[in-house]
Amino acid sequence: DWTMAAFRDEAIEMIRKQVGDGRVICGLSGGVDSSVAAVLIHEAIGEQLTCVFVDTGLMRAGESEEVVRLFRDSYNIPLIHVEAADLFLGKLAGVDDPEKKRKIIGATFIDVFDAEANKIENAKFLAQGTLYPDVIESVSFDGGPSVTIKSHHNVGGLPERMNLKLVEPLRELFKDEVRILGRELGLPEHFVGRHPFPGPGLAIRIPGEVTQEKAEILRKADTIYLDEIRKAGLYDEIWQAFSVLLPVRTVGVMGDERTYDHVLALRAVTSTDGMTADYYPFTHEFLGACATRIINEVRGVNRVVYDVTSKPPGTIEWE
Ligand code: XMP
Repeated sequence: DWTMAAFRDEAIEMIRKQVGDGRVICGLSGGVDSSVAAVLIHEAIGEQLTCVFVDTGLMRAGESEEVVRLFRDSYNIPLIHVEAADLFLGKLAGVDDPEKKRKIIGATFIDVFDAEANKIENAKFLAQGTLYPDVIESVSFDGGPSVTIKSHHNVGGLPERMNLKLVEPLRELFKDEVRILGRELGLPEHFVGRHPFPGPGLAIRIPGEVTQEKAEILRKADTIYLDEIRKAGLYDEIWQAFSVLLPVRTVGVMGDERTYDHVLALRAVTSTDGMTADYYPFTHEFLGACATRIINEVRGVNRVVYDVTSKPPGTIEWE
């Protein structure tokens, strides 16, 4: 009889066997997978684990603070927190091609991570929250988008360059199983139940050039959208919900004034694995209420639209 409790014990045994007394570095992304991997490995080897969290400035509102709090304060897991927002935004200046953005973010991430990891003496292993679908995707697709998808997510290139062996305790699990394991390990429910978030973060939710100002507008609008979804009790029915700040300005009116501001697109999909997806059928009342709140509360947005494209033929993200 397979249970998550048994899986956990077995995984802990295997991690101990694999790493012996070597030091393990784990890159935290702020997401569920890397967090669950880190907590599991910490249970197995305690102080031999150091986590590195690179803040790219492309996270959702309050996300980096939450990760730091969770790891440092609740779990007491050694965490190196690198503030690299200016570096990332600087490198992204003037770039609008989606794949170039991904490459820049991936390369910058590796540079920052590498520099931090080099300071950790006797580091022999690199831990990653690779899941079973990641393993499948990275071998079964030939040049398709999936390969690129995982290029940043799995910190590709790092182990070779750093001469580290990989520790991937979640390799046999699917997303829903990782969530069960996370609960088993005592991670808070709202953290474990979080929607997946792409490695390149908000950069691929700002088509065109990414700026600090646009990222701020997007964070504010997205917080309101997710807040409305939670209030309506719909968060757990949805695979991913997020906002996209479009590089298009349209005319509006506010009081007696004419406005000329950004369009914000709202997206929400149901899915089981992210490979196919259907758009979520919100009521018109719900969408109208979101639009009103966002336009009233967020400066820089004067029009809100809802994306009703399923995957295929669309993708979940806009870039
Ligand atoms: P798409 O947009 O291809 O997304 O339908 C499928 C799933 O993958 C996520 N995604 C990414 N994750 N790095 C990631 O780590 C990426 O570059 C990336 N692009 C898309 C997306 O959020 C969805 O869950």
